[in-house]
Amino acid sequence: MSTEVLPMPSSSVSPPAPPSSSSSKKSAPLELPWVEKYRPTLLSDVVGNEETTSRLQAIAEDGNLPNLIVSGPPGTGKTTSVKALALALLGDKCKVGVLELNASDSRGIDVVRNKIKSFAQSKITLPPSRHKIVILDEADSMTTAAQQALRRTMEVYSSTTRFALACNLSSKIIEPIQSRAAILRFTRLSDSQVLSRLIHVCTSEGVSYTSDGLEAIIFTAEGDMRNAINNLQATWAGFEHVNQGNVFKVCDQPHPETVKSILKYCSLGETKNAVSSMRSLYSTGYSCSDIISTIFKVTKSQNFQESMKLKFLREIGFAHVRIAEGNATLLQLLGLLGRMCEIGREMGEKGEEDMVIE
Ligand SMILES: Nc1ncnc2c1ncn2[C@@H]1O[C@H](COP(=O)(O)OP(=O)(O)O)[C@@H](O)[C@H]1O
Ligand SMILES: [Mg+2]
Repeated sequence: MSTEVLPMPSSSVSPPAPPSSSSSKKSAPLELPWVEKYRPTLLSDVVGNEETTSRLQAIAEDGNLPNLIVSGPPGTGKTTSVKALALALLGDKCKVGVLELNASDSRGIDVVRNKIKSFAQSKITLPPSRHKIVILDEADSMTTAAQQALRRTMEVYSSTTRFALACNLSSKIIEPIQSRAAILRFTRLSDSQVLSRLIHVCTSEGVSYTSDGLEAIIFTAEGDMRNAINNLQATWAGFEHVNQGNVFKVCDQPHPETVKSILKYCSLGETKNAVSSMRSLYSTGYSCSDIISTIFKVTKSQNFQESMKLKFLREIGFAHVRIAEGNATLLQLLGLLGRMCEIGREMGEKGEEDMVIE
């Protein structure tokens, strides 16, 4: 029934009309991704990293923007803060006074020589004592040659144009640029900071959630706000309720409860059970690096005896290195379990002594 007529008449009658009208009309019901919808536009709305944001705020009030390098892990608000800073400095002149290039634009040496240079040379009327701003997002993906070309441009036009570079690792920016810029660092957001933002989004969107659902999102996001908000939206869109089970279905990570039970077996030295649980977890299709990073996260948050936890983490670290180097096999994971069970058994045998000492 639905196959008969639906697309035919409209497309055959007036092919050019629908695309033009739909592009303007459909934009209303289409929803923005929440990460964009809830991207703060004011520096004061950026959550966490108080010291860094207060320095940016001071720059915004003062108006004297130095060349900046903003570095830190993904999803912590680097791009957001740099854009908010540009907006605070230039207001409605942002459109003409800011050149933004990110990793999706070509930023080879030619672009630096032509596009950036001609922007720096162009004459634009800005509020008094303001500079044009070049935002280079994900600057660590620029080639060294392009960065070399940039350093001279930065100097020559410093009276009219300032640069703000955002990157994950400031060490990937060449030394001469680092020495010309003030470096601001962002760190991962704390659980409570992510939680407060998630609750804000949930209440604005009318999302029904349970607290263990939000905890699960925070657990998988590891201080990455973009990841947290995306997972929240994905869970809400898929299941219309955010609880622990739904979150782990969406996030596609090994369920921490399963991993917890494997670790429990290890701490008791029950190799057989540990191995069979791991086999069944592996057979569901998770990659070794997914599994090992969940093992790490769960071990970190478990309350084992301190000494056992340290030994476990040491072994997990070694296994993680091997997996990262390419030995991503079930054998590596089982080897890890073997060593952990040995530790569990040894410590279990002298467990009572430990208890007395502690
Ligand atoms: N500190 C923060 N406060 C509020 N929202 C944030 C913060 N950091 C990230 N976000 C959210 O995550 C999205 C991506 O942030 P972005 O600044 O682009 O991250 P990156 O540090 O990778 O550049 C933003 O649109 C925003 O919704
Ligand atoms: Mg970014």
